[in-house]
Amino acid sequence: MNSASSHVYRVDPGGRLTGRLRVPGDKSISHRSIILGSLAEGITDVSGFLEGEDSLATLSAFRDMGVSISGPDQGRIRIQGIGLHGLKASPTPLNLGNSGTSMRLLAGLLAGQSFDSRLIGDASLTGRPMGRVVDPLTRMGAQVRMTESKTAPLEIQGGAVLSGIDYDMPVASAQVKSSLLLAGLYAKGRTCVREPAPTRDHTERMLQGMGYPVERTGNRICLQGGHRLKAIPIEVPADISSAAFFLVGASIAPDSDLILEHVGINPTRTGVLDILKRMGANIDIVATREAGGEPVADLRVRSAVLRGIEIPPDLVPLAIDEFPALFVAAACAEGQTVLTGAGELRVKESDRIGVMAEGLKTLGIDAHPTPDGMVIRGGVLSGGTVESHGDHRIAMAFAMAALRSSQRITINDCANVNTSFPGFVDLSRAAGLLVQNIR
Ligand code: S3P
Repeated sequence: MNSASSHVYRVDPGGRLTGRLRVPGDKSISHRSIILGSLAEGITDVSGFLEGEDSLATLSAFRDMGVSISGPDQGRIRIQGIGLHGLKASPTPLNLGNSGTSMRLLAGLLAGQSFDSRLIGDASLTGRPMGRVVDPLTRMGAQVRMTESKTAPLEIQGGAVLSGIDYDMPVASAQVKSSLLLAGLYAKGRTCVREPAPTRDHTERMLQGMGYPVERTGNRICLQGGHRLKAIPIEVPADISSAAFFLVGASIAPDSDLILEHVGINPTRTGVLDILKRMGANIDIVATREAGGEPVADLRVRSAVLRGIEIPPDLVPLAIDEFPALFVAAACAEGQTVLTGAGELRVKESDRIGVMAEGLKTLGIDAHPTPDGMVIRGGVLSGGTVESHGDHRIAMAFAMAALRSSQRITINDCANVNTSFPGFVDLSRAAGLLVQNIR
């Protein structure tokens, strides 16, 4: 548990968001820069790295396994790559904190090493499902033990001989896909993963950027063990998942006009833009360009009258981390918003369906949770005290809600905002949100 778990945000009602800002680096790409940079041959210079607790947990884990990494210094790190076979056993368990991405990706990577590993995490991470990676890794020949309820800690036995499998993922998960592809680097033969819907493809892009052959045919991604990775410079764009809070905030707050700079707009991540635009949001995507193998752009967002929609299920995996913010947009929209096909939200850092419904009801909104989604009727947000349950994205979503509330909103348990968005309070205050961290 984070030592500062008592952080409380007090957000006064009203305000508008204006100006230009750059949110911190993409969390998913930051994790992968450490993982693949460590396994590459040569020096990987990373810029724009997210100095949040989750990606720093991955960084520490690789230091613990003998990789020399300097920084971070203003988003810059330098990794002395040690090649695919250079990792060493960590003298202590690898503590991955709150980070599901670290644990699931490392499970795959470490299944293919010659040494044993133990992966631990905080209370939230220890409650999250790990069978989704351990089961297919076991089919590849990995020796991984988890608890009876299929959760961490994970005990990974080194020296297992892995063989490629052809795996049909039951859930659309980039973490599962990436875990199996990382194990596949060490497996005999071909490892193939079929995804039921497109999921973020940063692992595949970075592997290919480093010269590792990866094949995609339709929804099936395959690689063969035994190739090598060559270090390349990595420029991490701003995280669209962090930008999402401002996209919603500037849409719902009257008289807002905000530019979000250098945001990653990889098409496997832009569901939030499509959903908000369908709701009537006024978002311009300008100056689209490419940075380090990923498309980026500036996003200009202005206030708009939002309307409720039925969210198309095919957009769900493309916006999976953005629903806490989107639920706030729905609460401010005219009419009803219906989300289905999003049962995955129940096993994120918190049960994001249950926790958001509870908080929205506290704020006077008619929010009806369902097993795999939510029905929200737009209305007038009052004020009150809501619980984030230690979930960074819940805390930031409710902070934005105050832009349209009639009274102050107090949000408990906000320390984990630092897992993905260090500096959130200062950056959002500078843009016009009336937020203070009071404890
Ligand atoms: C991530 C994948 C997603 C996402 C998470 C980051 C990644 O999880 O929710 O925040 O970096 O691969 P799932 O793959 O479990 O949906």
